[in-house]
Amino acid sequence: EQRDRKILHEAHDYAARYYHYLLLNTEFGRAAKAYLRDRGMTDKLIDQFMIGYAPDRWDALTKFLEKRDYSLSLMEQGGLLSAKNDGSGYVDRFRDRIMFPIWDRDGKVIAFAGRVLGDGQPKYLNSSDSMLFHKSRSLYNFHQARPSIRKSRKVVLFEGYMDVIKAWQAGVHNGVATMGTAFTEEHAEIMRRNADEVIICYDGDDAGQAAALKTIPMLEKTGLRVWVALLPGRKDPDEYIAEYGPQSFLREIMDQPVSVTKFRLIFLRKSHKLLEEEGRKNYVLEGVRIVAELDSPTEREFYLKELSREFGLTLDVLKQECFQIRETMRKVHPQRDKDEQSWNNGMNEG
Ligand code: UTP
Ligand code: MN
Ligand code: MN
Ligand code: MN
Ligand code: MN
Repeated sequence: EQRDRKILHEAHDYAARYYHYLLLNTEFGRAAKAYLRDRGMTDKLIDQFMIGYAPDRWDALTKFLEKRDYSLSLMEQGGLLSAKNDGSGYVDRFRDRIMFPIWDRDGKVIAFAGRVLGDGQPKYLNSSDSMLFHKSRSLYNFHQARPSIRKSRKVVLFEGYMDVIKAWQAGVHNGVATMGTAFTEEHAEIMRRNADEVIICYDGDDAGQAAALKTIPMLEKTGLRVWVALLPGRKDPDEYIAEYGPQSFLREIMDQPVSVTKFRLIFLRKSHKLLEEEGRKNYVLEGVRIVAELDSPTEREFYLKELSREFGLTLDVLKQECFQIRETMRKVHPQRDKDEQSWNNGMNEG
């Protein structure tokens, strides 16, 4: 087992350098290079993130590894190759894809994410879990971001690889991302061990915002302070930077995160029809329910004031409303943890 791990580490390292070489120095990589250029990827970034290209062949990496006497069945277990359907051997798992190596915390390559050049499916093909790679506890770019995370005690959580890379170029050196799968408690614990605060900067589309809502309680549970950096117009960080530039990204987005409560209220607002009386009423009532979850009376008053201003309701009325909700909460959950469940209930009702 220990021996196999060592061999797989070595093979991943070889594969990453092989793909990187094919991208930069061969005819195979031409279209991929053009694609990356088109997306604003500089040579420096390609180098730093060791981006590569897997050619449109069934036997490129397979032959490469075979020549170096690697056990192909071990390579298949490690996620670099696929077994042929008829059991007669192995073929390349990644074909005609831009390759993003994924590293462990020590900077060893343990997996890959491969992106199609155009609109194919799946957009990203990730290595499956292996003895080296566990999606549920891998954070993309953590090994490069760790010094900055530990120094600033802050980590920025993005949704995608490209977002991490483009934000890095803009100067955000404490950015990481999960691997397409959901954010887990293990991810949260890794962050907690290295930081005190997290800024979630997910895509501005509905999926990204919904994912942020799910991620927040897991982060809060560990004691991390959570902020949310919002992107306008359903853009993701990569798209925002391409359109408005790195300075604007730093100043308007990274430097202006909102609190979790503010984020919940903004999300709530977007999901109600404020032109209709019913929609306005439910927005306010559900908003008060979000505020009622806060432990600090000062914070409660702060957000209730904002809500009262929005529709010209008196602060007194909203305070009464809030008080009633808190009374009910106390009866229902006498020693309630401020956990995921209570938040979700608050969000789903109505
Ligand atoms: P997105 O669909 O937002 O992709 O998925 P993206 O990061 O903006 O990618 P580009 O800019 O189009 O290249 C966010 C993340 O979800 C995972 C990847 O980690 C991706 O970065 N994902 C997405 C997958 O694992 N597989 C997929 O097919 C799609
Ligand atoms: Mn290089
Ligand atoms: Mn997305
Ligand atoms: Mn995206
Ligand atoms: Mn994108």
